[in-house]
Amino acid sequence: MTDIARVLYGREDIRRRVEELGRTITGDYVGREPVLISVLKGGTVFLADLIRQIDLPLETHFIAVSPYGGAAESMGRVRILLDVESDLTGRDLLLVEDIVDTGLTISYLLSILRQRGPASLEVCTLLDRSVRRIAPLRPRYVGFDCPDAFVIGYGLDFQERYRNLADIMEVPDTAALSDDPDALVPHLAVAG
Ligand code: IMP
Ligand code: MG
Repeated sequence: MTDIARVLYGREDIRRRVEELGRTITGDYVGREPVLISVLKGGTVFLADLIRQIDLPLETHFIAVSPYGGAAESMGRVRILLDVESDLTGRDLLLVEDIVDTGLTISYLLSILRQRGPASLEVCTLLDRSVRRIAPLRPRYVGFDCPDAFVIGYGLDFQERYRNLADIMEVPDTAALSDDPDALVPHLAVAG
């Protein structure tokens, strides 16, 4: 533990929660073949663990949007960089995200996917920072309710780094991490 960051959700908590989500999703989609769509890049670590807890045939696809650049840039200005090429008509879509913050990114993606005529369309997010929500949106599946602090690890980045942290860490003062970008490198040790 450092002054710059502290563990918010440890790897064991994450593993247990992902297992529970997988079980719930399996129950909800039994008899169907859901299409999980992960939002690059942050959602990929979660997706990789989640699909191995879902006991059903399923498909995975990826979608990429222009990187998040703070509130001003985030305001509805999302650009699709990589799209799903398969026909999604009549399919059960589950959008998989690392974190839903303002909800603007996901709302935009939902509006695009809705136009493709899916049978159903839901959101599964590991973290839900609902206190910052701008777009009215309640994800169907939520791992953890996230406090209003910047978080990194388990797919979530700070300036493209630290996605490979096994734990999710809270960074109360991102300026301090900017000043010393390697401060959390010791936490990358696999043993934790
Ligand atoms: P939204 O459109 O404000 O909901 O933005 C959500 C996206 O911003 C997420 O998919 C993340 O990629 C990114 N993001 C939001 N909060 C954090 C954070 O605390 N750490 C890392 N990335 C974040
Ligand atoms: Mg993301």
